[in-house]
Amino acid sequence: MSARLRSIVDQLELRPDDDVLEIGCGHGIAATMVCERLTAGRYVAIDRSATMIAAAERRNAAAVASGQAEFAVMELEGLDLGERRFDVVFAARVGLFHRAPDRARALIEPWLKPGGVLHVFYDTPS
Ligand SMILES: C[S@@+](CC[C@H](N)C(=O)[O-])C[C@H]1O[C@@H](n2cnc3c(N)ncnc32)[C@H](O)[C@@H]1O
Repeated sequence: MSARLRSIVDQLELRPDDDVLEIGCGHGIAATMVCERLTAGRYVAIDRSATMIAAAERRNAAAVASGQAEFAVMELEGLDLGERRFDVVFAARVGLFHRAPDRARALIEPWLKPGGVLHVFYDTPS
């Protein structure tokens, strides 16, 4: 387990009924930690890499099977999650949030519930 991602998930201060969206989930390591903290809440992740989404789904197969977690191959720039809205959206080490933060935030805002929050994390890969 990654101490870096554990620290990130700690900082989300999740409530058990939060609906959570992760952008750029990679291998789905944070996904596992988020799902451990949710009861009624659900977790959705997107990543533009089909390889990463397949790995994340394998890693979180039980949460996918129970309906708690869902993974989709999708780019942030084309985000479309239908009627879903989220209490918490987060991204870690996803370039667009750092290259073009205003644009990235504008892409996320329509998917936040009233009072929902976006957390962006960037740390230098070790
Ligand atoms: C450096 S990895 C970080 C993975 C994980 N969040 C972490 O911190 O370990 C960035 C991930 O974001 C995905 N990604 C980058 N830009 C994206 C975009 N515009 N839309 C969706 N996924 C993106 C990449 O495919 C990759 O899996």
